[in-house]
Amino acid sequence: MKKDQVIALDGPSGSGKSTVAKLVAKQLNLIYIDTGAMFRAVAYALQHTGIDFTKPKLDSHDEQIIQSFFHDHRFQFAAQPGVLVQLDNLNLTDVIREHHVSKLASQISKHKVIRDFLAEWQRSIVQDRPAILDGRDIGTVIFPNAVVKIFLTASAQERAQRRFEELKERGQLEHDFDSILNDIKERDHVDMTREIAPLKKANDGIELDSTGKTVTDMVTFIVNLWNQRKGSL
Ligand code: DC
Repeated sequence: MKKDQVIALDGPSGSGKSTVAKLVAKQLNLIYIDTGAMFRAVAYALQHTGIDFTKPKLDSHDEQIIQSFFHDHRFQFAAQPGVLVQLDNLNLTDVIREHHVSKLASQISKHKVIRDFLAEWQRSIVQDRPAILDGRDIGTVIFPNAVVKIFLTASAQERAQRRFEELKERGQLEHDFDSILNDIKERDHVDMTREIAPLKKANDGIELDSTGKTVTDMVTFIVNLWNQRKGSL
């Protein structure tokens, strides 16, 4: 079967996916797609619909509201320099990193109507171009024929520490370490136990534990794997 010219980089929040993905993309000249940012953009956009996304299933009325929102508005990924995600003319690059958007993104992502929209959006950006995507279900659902599939992990403690430092650097530290750690654990739980496209390693994926490894180690590992496998296609 023909493989997709894609590196699927999946893993839980804060495992270092985006840092690694950006560097791999640069070295290999691939398009980089941050699918978490896309989920966050949709979460941000839908927060004012008044729909309760924490309920297990959306009813058909909720789905109609969401579908017509998708129909009436235009989301764009990296359409212009410096703008990662955009809703109509609104630049969402910064607001999607806010703490409450992280939570909401995890909540909306268990619903089929939303995942279907996101799946189409992700595939439409890639088309046939070589790309690296980071997310949760890239190797299992979006590109199951990806040339390289990596599942990047790290302990919850380590991931919370990284998120803490990141928020501090951005001057957005409104929560203490313990509440960030609890949030990470809660999001892991939601992401891993949802019915549709749960966060898990693809059967043919390679698990890479980032604890104690340098970014360079991980980038080199992935770049080498891509070069080996691309050569043998
Ligand atoms: O990677 P991130 O933290 O920016 O992602 C935010 C949320 O979006 C995450 O909690 C789960 C969801 N997500 C998803 O379900 N599937 C993806 N491919 C990417 C993100």
